[in-house]
Amino acid sequence: MSATATAVNPTGIASIGLHFPALSLPVEELAELRGQDPDKYRVGLGCEEMSICPPDVSVVELATEAARRALSRWGGSKERIGMIAVGTETAVDMSRPLSAWVADRLGLSGAIRSYEVKHACYGGTLAVRQAAEWRLSGAARDQAALVVAADVAMYEEGDPGEPTQGAGGVAMVIDEPRIARIDPVSYPWSEPQFDFWRPVGENYPRVDGPLSLDCYKRAAENCFKAMIGQRDPEVVLRELAAICFHVPFPKMVRKAFYRVGEFLDLNAERIDGFFQEKIYPTMMWNRLCGNAYTASLWISVARALKGLAAGERVAAFSYGSGFGAELMMLEAGPDAAAGAWEQDVETDFRDRERIDARGYSELRESRS
Ligand code: CAA
Repeated sequence: MSATATAVNPTGIASIGLHFPALSLPVEELAELRGQDPDKYRVGLGCEEMSICPPDVSVVELATEAARRALSRWGGSKERIGMIAVGTETAVDMSRPLSAWVADRLGLSGAIRSYEVKHACYGGTLAVRQAAEWRLSGAARDQAALVVAADVAMYEEGDPGEPTQGAGGVAMVIDEPRIARIDPVSYPWSEPQFDFWRPVGENYPRVDGPLSLDCYKRAAENCFKAMIGQRDPEVVLRELAAICFHVPFPKMVRKAFYRVGEFLDLNAERIDGFFQEKIYPTMMWNRLCGNAYTASLWISVARALKGLAAGERVAAFSYGSGFGAELMMLEAGPDAAAGAWEQDVETDFRDRERIDARGYSELRESRS
């Protein structure tokens, strides 16, 4: 063995912190403003409320506060952080990574690899994978990684995507698998497409809605197909305590799981049964915050892990336009049952102010 060879560390999520901004808009208010039937947003898309940032809050504050919460819950020494990776598609600079803002505010510097990851909503998952693989490779020695996924999703006024907007941040310390062990094997799928993109210098994304739905469903089908392999799909799905998806809007997840289920030859009743039992409950927080892009899957994962017994397994499907996708497998650790991070969600949702259609219009006006 060479002098530099190191042992592989047990790896997973050691702590979680979440943060949502201080305002929210019920989708009924937006429907009124845009002259739409509120059921189109509530039933047609499955949305309830969207998180909105006040004028003085940006993705920097969301990412930093989520990271501060995750670090304070972790209990390790800051000196052990050897990597800060921030996934976002709300970059504030084309060169300086968002991780530098976070590190600056948290007083993290030194022998740390610090960077931003961009691949639309998949960026947070890539950061998690890189952190996990860094530890699993032995290169981390006994260091831990701080991973943050944070975004503010805003569409142009009147865009069909407007009711799906949202904002939020999730931070995780990747270290000992106290909350969840991360399987070393995962199942990626990517295809170059223009389904959703934001050219440099433009404030809002351009979207080919129908194409984006199609790409998402195809990615889900291929990732689940690879994960299930030759095994009996019923058995594999039944053994999972929860199945989490990236949630651009809840109806998208339902559509994608139907596609997966049909591909696996499950009948409509079984697909519906799995959806209601293992997927719908994981989107409880997503329905109240809207699409937080990179954070969206991890909000769902945080909800799913809360309360699980050690050893229970969770599937996590990530999708980012462009497009790249990956299905990861997690196994709950001893601290999942307590679900300490639920406190962040309860506090932020309880304390936030609901604005109405007028308040929302004024906010948009002040931003532009
Ligand atoms: N009552 C109940 N339901 C109604 C209704 C009413 N009065 N009126 C319409 N609906 C239903 C429609 O039947 C439809 O349901 P189905 O799809 O089940 O048929 C649903 O409401 C949506 O209506 P439309 O099909 O008319 O869709 P739209 O033109 O309003 O746009 C969208 C929908 C394309 C998803 C749009 O919201 C969008 O562009 N969103 C952004 C892109 C997106 O989220 N893509 C998802 C995959 S890409 C990704 O995941 C990355 C990411 O985060 C963005």
